Amino acid sequence: MCGIVGYVGSEQAAPVLLEGLSRLEYRGYDSAGVAVYSQREGTLSVHKAKGRLQVLSDLLQGGAAVEGTVGIGHTRWATHGAPSDVNSHPQVSQGGKIAVVHNGIIENYAELKAFLVDKGVTFVSETDTEVVAQLIEYFYDGDLLAAVGRVLHRIKGAYALGILCADTPDQLIAVRKDSPLILGYGKGCSFMASDVTAILKHTREVGYMEDGEIAVLTREGIQCYNHLMQPIQKEISHVDWEIDAAEKGGYEHFMFKEIMEQPEALRRCVFPRIREGEVWFEDFGLSEEYIRSIQKIYIVACGSSYHVGMVGKYNLERLTRIPVEVALASEFRYMDPIVNDRTLVVVISQSGETLDTMAALREARKLGGRILSIVNVVGSSIARESDEVLYTWAGPEIAVATTKAYSTQMALIDLLGLYFARILGTVEEQEYRSALDEMLLLPAKMEEVLADKDDIQYFASQYFNHDSVFFIGRNLDYALGLEGSLKLKEISYIHSEAYASGELKHGTISLIEDGTLVVALGTYGRLFEKAMSNVVEVKSRGADVLALTTKSHEKEMRETANAVITIPDTHDLLLPSLGVVPLQLFAYYVALMRGCDIDKPRNLAKSVTVE
Ligand code: G6P
Repeated sequence: MCGIVGYVGSEQAAPVLLEGLSRLEYRGYDSAGVAVYSQREGTLSVHKAKGRLQVLSDLLQGGAAVEGTVGIGHTRWATHGAPSDVNSHPQVSQGGKIAVVHNGIIENYAELKAFLVDKGVTFVSETDTEVVAQLIEYFYDGDLLAAVGRVLHRIKGAYALGILCADTPDQLIAVRKDSPLILGYGKGCSFMASDVTAILKHTREVGYMEDGEIAVLTREGIQCYNHLMQPIQKEISHVDWEIDAAEKGGYEHFMFKEIMEQPEALRRCVFPRIREGEVWFEDFGLSEEYIRSIQKIYIVACGSSYHVGMVGKYNLERLTRIPVEVALASEFRYMDPIVNDRTLVVVISQSGETLDTMAALREARKLGGRILSIVNVVGSSIARESDEVLYTWAGPEIAVATTKAYSTQMALIDLLGLYFARILGTVEEQEYRSALDEMLLLPAKMEEVLADKDDIQYFASQYFNHDSVFFIGRNLDYALGLEGSLKLKEISYIHSEAYASGELKHGTISLIEDGTLVVALGTYGRLFEKAMSNVVEVKSRGADVLALTTKSHEKEMRETANAVITIPDTHDLLLPSLGVVPLQLFAYYVALMRGCDIDKPRNLAKSVTVE
C-alpha cells in the first residue's frame, strides 16, 4: 500500500526516484509523484500524475526534466481521497516549504485538520497525508527535526513518512510506525524506501527502521533517533540477492515468471531443511519440551497466506493431533481469541508487512502466545517481531497475485507438521518417511505439471468467457479451491466462489444451471468417491465440469467430467502443493485472454499496510 523512496546524493535525483518507484509499483499504482529540491530556483519542485508511474515518467522525460539532487517519491494506493493529481503524493504544506510522502493511514486526521483550518490553514486535497505536511509547517520554527517530533506526538495511526524541507535541502527525514521503511547507505548518498528492491541498484547496505524511529539522511550518512529523540546506532545489514531476481527476465509477466520459478523456490526452501532423513530447522528455538506442551495452534494470516493456513489446519491436525484454529488476521484482533502460553501462534505472510497480520501478532503476544512466523521477506516487520521465523526463501515476489510464496509457505507448514509429529510420536515411521521422500520429489513433479501448461492454456481458451465459476472440493481440495478461486477472481475479474462440496446442497446448488462452469477438485484420494458424487450432482444440473485429479484417478474422472487436468500422484499431505499449479496457470491464461493487467490487478496491492 503505497511505495516511498527518498534520495540525497550528488546524482540527479528524479531519475533515481522514478527508477526506485518502478520497483515499488506493486505496492500501489493509482498515481505517482516526486518532490525534488531545485538548487536553481531555491524551491521544491513537485510533480504528480494520476495513473501508472509511466504517465509521470513520460511527463518528466524519465526524470531529465527535473533538476536537483535531493528528493522524495511516491506511488499511491488510494485510501483517503480518490486517485487524482491533487490527492497524489508528495503532499505539500500551504507555504510550499514542506513536502511529505506517506504510506499508511493517519487515523485522527479529521481532528487535526479541523485544528489547522481553525488556525487559517487552507487544504487542497482530501488526503490524510496533507495534514502531516501542514502540521509540520505549522510547528516549524527553523528546527525541522523538532517540528517533526512535535507532529509525531499528535498523529495517530500507521505511517512511514519521507519528509523534505526547502530550508534544509541537504537532508531528508524518514519516520516509521507500523509501515515498512528501510534505509540505504551509499557512497556519498543515502536512501530511504519501502522495500529493498527500490534501492538495490545503488547499494546493498541497508538498515531496517523500527517503530518510533526517526532518521536524518544526508550525503555523509544517516543519523537515527529513537522515539525520545535520543541518537541511536543502527545495525547495517548486507543484502546478498541479485536485482535480476526482481526483474522479468524475458517473461511477459512477473506472475508467469514466478509460477515457473516454483520448483526452484521449493528446492531452496525444502532441500536444506531435510537432513539425513529428518526435518531440520536452523537455529530453531522451539524446544522439544515446549512442543510437547502446546495445547493449541492458531494460524493467523490474510489472503493466500490464509489459504495456506487452511491447508495447514488439515495437515497439522492430522499429523500432530493438536487442535488447530485458522483465523483471518483482520478478524483475530476483534474476536477475543483464546490464546495463552500454551498456544503456538503461526503467523504466515509473504511480505511480512501486512498490517492486519502484524496487529494480530501483537495481540497474540499480548495474550501470552508464542509466535512462529513463516515469512518471505527477510528482515520484514513480522519476521523481526516473531519469536521464531521460518523463511520461505522464495526470492522476491513482484506480481500482486502470489504464487511461489504460497507454494513455499505450504511446504514449510508441512515440514513443521512433520517435525512436530516426529517429536510427539504422532506420525508412523512409514508415513513420515514417505512424506519426506515425496517432499524431495515435489520440485520435479511440479516441473511435470508445468510442462503441461499448454493443456491448461487450451482449457482457459474454452472457458475464459464464463462470468461465474464455482470451485468445489472436500478437505484439502476445499482449501485448494479457496486459493484457485481467489487467483481467478483477483486477476481475471470473473466472479468465482469456492465451496466445500458437501455444502452445495444447502443453497449454492441453486445457482448451477446449464453451462455453469464448475471446477471440481478431486485430488484427495481418501475422499475421491465423495468428490465424484458431487461431480455427478452438478453435472445432472447442467454444469460444465472441469476436473482436477491425480493420474491414478484420471480414468474414472474422465467418465463423468467434461474435461480433466491431472497432476502426478504424491503423498496426500502434498496434494495441494501440486494441485495449485494448474489452478494458477488457469487463472493466468484466462486473465491473459481477457486482456487483464495481470501483474497489477485493479484495486489491489501486494503489500497491504492499512487496516
Ligand atoms: C495481498 C496480496 C495477496 C496476499 C495478501 C496477504 O492481498 O495481494 O496475494 O496473499 O495480501 O499478504 P502477505 O504478504 O501477508 O502474505
